[in-house]
Amino acid sequence: MRSLSQRVRALKPSATVAVNAKALELRRKGVDLVALTAGEPDFDTPEHVKEAARRALAQGKTKYAPPAGIPELREALAEKFRRENGLEVTPEETLVTVGGKQALFNLFQALLDPGDEVILLRPYWVSYPEMVRLAGGVPVEVETLPEEGFVPDPERVKRAITGRTKVLVVNSPNNPTGAVYPEEVLKALAELALEHDFYLVSDEIYEHLIYEGVHFSPGRVAPEHTLTVNGAAKAFAMTGWRIGYACGPKAVIRAMADISSQSTTSPDTIAQWAALEALTNLEASRAFVEMAREAYRRRRDLLLEGLHRIGLRAVRPSGAFYVLMDTSPLAADEVKAAERLLQAGVAVVPGTDFAAFGHVRLSYATGEENLRKALERFARVLEARPQ
Ligand SMILES: Cc1ncc(COP(=O)(O)O)c(C=O)c1O
Repeated sequence: MRSLSQRVRALKPSATVAVNAKALELRRKGVDLVALTAGEPDFDTPEHVKEAARRALAQGKTKYAPPAGIPELREALAEKFRRENGLEVTPEETLVTVGGKQALFNLFQALLDPGDEVILLRPYWVSYPEMVRLAGGVPVEVETLPEEGFVPDPERVKRAITGRTKVLVVNSPNNPTGAVYPEEVLKALAELALEHDFYLVSDEIYEHLIYEGVHFSPGRVAPEHTLTVNGAAKAFAMTGWRIGYACGPKAVIRAMADISSQSTTSPDTIAQWAALEALTNLEASRAFVEMAREAYRRRRDLLLEGLHRIGLRAVRPSGAFYVLMDTSPLAADEVKAAERLLQAGVAVVPGTDFAAFGHVRLSYATGEENLRKALERFARVLEARPQ
């Protein structure tokens, strides 16, 4: 049998997608399970966005789109980046992609030569190191610490810079820690990109889900060195529509579009018209985002208070919809802890593939009733553990 490529043999499939699939399968079999695994809003896409998709269909907008996206959406993106992020970009400096994931995938393909180093802040989102390796790059890990609220220390990042450093990835609000990086930290990291001439990739997909603090786009400090990645998935409950976007230096954006032209051709045309509505019907979209944010905030507080009451530790997240819970009171490591919790009827994601050892990720993008049930089950697992 001819073998698969070395590249693919080294590839780890997404742990979060796998755990979520397992939880759904158990539930289909009738197991009473609370799933805290989802990386997506539990809300449905808002009605005004769905209506725009129906309109696009009725108008026959069913053909291929340009690889970088429909011009109307690119114009709306330039306006969004200016209005919400303080980034002065033209439509040509923006790109629409098949989810934020394709924007990241294409930019690593566009930027990395074999052996180029990419600094990742640990714990990191599971897909970064795999995307970097698929592009021939070498992930270099710099840790962020629970006692520092998982906020990166620019000095520690500086020590990891070498002559081969090509990219630093920052993700605020963060998956899986929920940390929102302060402006001065993001500015210091952008200054490093300028000083050492590498690219900063700023993954801002959870931008609208902040409960304390404010969002800052480091592209304001280093516009020629920053690629800002975002998407419709988390803000507008549009995960299945697969619309992401990015902005950055024109040459890189053009290269990313060329990669799309030879792989996916373009993002889904109907979904692009729907995303345009989400980005331009400001009144309806703001009302939706505000409603979702308030719901997540209540759920976060409920979950955190519940965890602390039963003696489980977690750093208070200020954004996104995840809590990284310390598993030391539950089991010897995070995989065993996740197994014990699954047996007790709660599915969580072990921190292993996020390089969040000794932790599991809990998603609170689920109803309050589910969170209460999960807390009761956690308490039972703790009581059953021999001291
Ligand atoms: C940190 C982070 N970046 C990017 C993405 C990609 O999102 P999508 O491809 O659905 O737009 C996700 C999704 O889980 C994420 O958590």
